[in-house]
Amino acid sequence: MQRRHFLAAATLSLALPPLARAQAAKLRVGLMLPYTGTYAQLGTAIENGLRLALAQGGGRLAGREAEFFKVDDESDPAKATDNANRLVTRDKVDVLVGTVHSGVAMAMVKVARESGVPLIIPNAGANAATGPACAPNVFRTSFSNWQTTHALGKVIAERGQKKAVFITWKYAAGEEAAAAFREGFEKAGGTVVKELYLPFPNVEFQALLTEIASLRPEAVGSFFAGAGAVKFVKDWAAAGLKDRIPLYGSGFLTEGVLPAQGEAAEGIVTTLHYADSLDTPRNKAFRAAYMAAYNKVEPDVYAVQGYDAGLLLQQGLEAAKGDPANRAALLAAMEGAEIDSPRGRWRMSRAHNPIQDIYLRRVEKGDNKVIGVAWKALEDPARGCKL
Ligand code: PHB
Repeated sequence: MQRRHFLAAATLSLALPPLARAQAAKLRVGLMLPYTGTYAQLGTAIENGLRLALAQGGGRLAGREAEFFKVDDESDPAKATDNANRLVTRDKVDVLVGTVHSGVAMAMVKVARESGVPLIIPNAGANAATGPACAPNVFRTSFSNWQTTHALGKVIAERGQKKAVFITWKYAAGEEAAAAFREGFEKAGGTVVKELYLPFPNVEFQALLTEIASLRPEAVGSFFAGAGAVKFVKDWAAAGLKDRIPLYGSGFLTEGVLPAQGEAAEGIVTTLHYADSLDTPRNKAFRAAYMAAYNKVEPDVYAVQGYDAGLLLQQGLEAAKGDPANRAALLAAMEGAEIDSPRGRWRMSRAHNPIQDIYLRRVEKGDNKVIGVAWKALEDPARGCKL
């Protein structure tokens, strides 16, 4: 009797068209982001962007509802492997999305490579993720750390400032930003006279600001983000450096934090793959929809990267007819993806990193105003990636 029931059920499910069967189960999305600490605001913006993309797709991904399994990764690399493994083995997620911090993201890459679960990185720029550790199931919708500061180095040298200091946090993202800055700056005729570091996420900048004042460089490049960027820009102005030495950064320095930085941020020039003020119908529609959905909060680059992660997942799942177990179709579609992003259209590189325009921005009256394109269609060199 029981056996007959079982057979009847099995026959019924086989008789259903594939889409109806896929609708039965929700898509399990493992979301690993920082919700506390210096990058907390970044994690929330990414999740909001991702959810907006899904909502605009009718709340479904290729016919499937999404169920989120969320972890606060605290931007703590020491907890990262356990956190990612828990999502894969306990929650049995179909796809992993995360994270902000490069060190934490590299632990996720390792778990993705070992388990085969597809991973979409919506921020962390760790060069290795789309370099030596690149993999068929690892994708990024943000940037590589090389991309943003390589362009910055070139811009500063072309502005005629040839002696620079670079200041940042001592961890993968800061070190890679400093190295790419040096490469871009020195190729264009500049010299980096010193790199200054403090441990992540320390914000005791005073001693290093004093050192910069005595080094008297013609320009200072930097990588800071989130709450740390707010404190750095304010301390820079308070130390009296604002009118003496031009301060530059990858655009994270002034992204999502301008209201908190206030007057101290005015005039800072940065390079980034997005700007609020991009004057395109696509960006305007995105910004209006985001603000309507999230209580008038303005979207930033992190929201855009989360949004694009949602668009990428949609493209992949549609090609897989809603079935994440159809990995070959899912991965092939994500690999060939072209994303109609609020930042401008971009496509996936061979190593699975966006090929994208890097904008030049200047803070004017509390806005990151686009003042040019620092680098058209910049592609990360993907050194060491064998795909
Ligand atoms: C990183 O750790 O890769 C990272 C963190 C925050 C940013 C950019 C890069 O804004």
